Amino acid sequence: MTIIVTGGAGFIGSNFIFFELDRHPEDRIVCLDKLTYAGNLSTLRDVMDRPNFRFIKMDICDREGVFRLFEEEKPDIVVNFAAESHVDRSIEDPGVFLQTNIMGTATLMDACRKYGVGRFHQVSTDEVYGDLPLDRPDLMFTEETPIHTSSPYSSSKAAADLLALAYHRTYGLPVTISRCSNNYGPYHFPEKLIPLMIANALNDKPLPVYGTGENVRDWLYVEDHCRAIDLIIRKGRVGEVYNVGGHNEMRNIDIVKLICHALGKPESLITFVTDRKGHDMRYAIDPTKIHSELGWLPETKFADGIQKTIDWYLTHRDWWEEIISGEYQNYYEKMYANR
Ligand code: NAD
Ligand code: TYD
Repeated sequence: MTIIVTGGAGFIGSNFIFFELDRHPEDRIVCLDKLTYAGNLSTLRDVMDRPNFRFIKMDICDREGVFRLFEEEKPDIVVNFAAESHVDRSIEDPGVFLQTNIMGTATLMDACRKYGVGRFHQVSTDEVYGDLPLDRPDLMFTEETPIHTSSPYSSSKAAADLLALAYHRTYGLPVTISRCSNNYGPYHFPEKLIPLMIANALNDKPLPVYGTGENVRDWLYVEDHCRAIDLIIRKGRVGEVYNVGGHNEMRNIDIVKLICHALGKPESLITFVTDRKGHDMRYAIDPTKIHSELGWLPETKFADGIQKTIDWYLTHRDWWEEIISGEYQNYYEKMYANR
């Protein structure tokens, strides 16, 4: 089989490529990525020369280019990770989120229709459900929870999900959607909570916690997410949405304290800063459907996953130091100075 993986130079897409090449060496993987600020070719260095791997620098909104690639590769499956993915950036500048996350997804699905692709999988997020209150731990997102978004990012992802379901119903496109909770692990771009806190702590810089730090996220080790997507594309039912999450709810402040302890850094580095606009309070996924239909369960416990992740950032300083030494400095200054 040939699988086109879009956004494969980013965090989850690259981990998915490593997972697929390892578990399904008989398949061919074609990675299509625009290499935005979040995409890193160095991440894919180890697989670049594999005979069953091809990288192509391309924008998923480039209709002609995408159609040409599909004509050439005749993919069996397309897995769409390509997206603008950071909530804070979407608050500053929503336009590119609408372009890539909505128009780009539509362009890929048009190409899937034209070339009769057997499966289009949209990698979505639990953020399309909005948030849950802190005082109702009994509530969790199911696939039936209404879409109710808070940020331009989550709204653009929700729009793409609705389009994907519409392409299924209207054109019969064989679509599946996964909505996963927050991922963590290797190659996570250091603008996101966990890698940002690890990098700052290692550099003895302040650890900027938004608001009171009581917001809750449901963390899943990235490899568990990759395994879920692998199962869905091979065994999932078309036209279906699958929630993916590991029942691992944690408050931001507790994660940041844990990182301080693990690195032997003082909690006095923690600095409470102005809250994110429209900040979602709590996410929590009910993964019953993917468990009962596909037998998926998370395999990595948070205590092990976070230790592996911290170790990875300690042993791959060159990867993230190169990132934070460039354009990232301007971003950091803009988002965090005087906050
Ligand atoms: P990321 O920002 O690390 O990577 C995104 C990748 O997409 C980058 O390589 C970037 O170059 C590429 N890209 C961006 N715009 C593109 C375009 N127009 N054309 C081609 N490539 C483009 O993101 P991530 O954290 O790996 O997330 C991947 C997907 O998973 C996203 O769709 C995101 O919404 C979803 N998701 C992420 C999480 C999470 O915790 N990170 C959780 C659930 C779902
Ligand atoms: P993030 O990693 O941006 O993921 P998401 O917003 O998609 O959940 O943020 C995770 C949580 O951490 C979120 O509640 C916002 C918070 N946060 C901080 O407190 N400080 C930071 O510097 C960042 C980047 C996030």
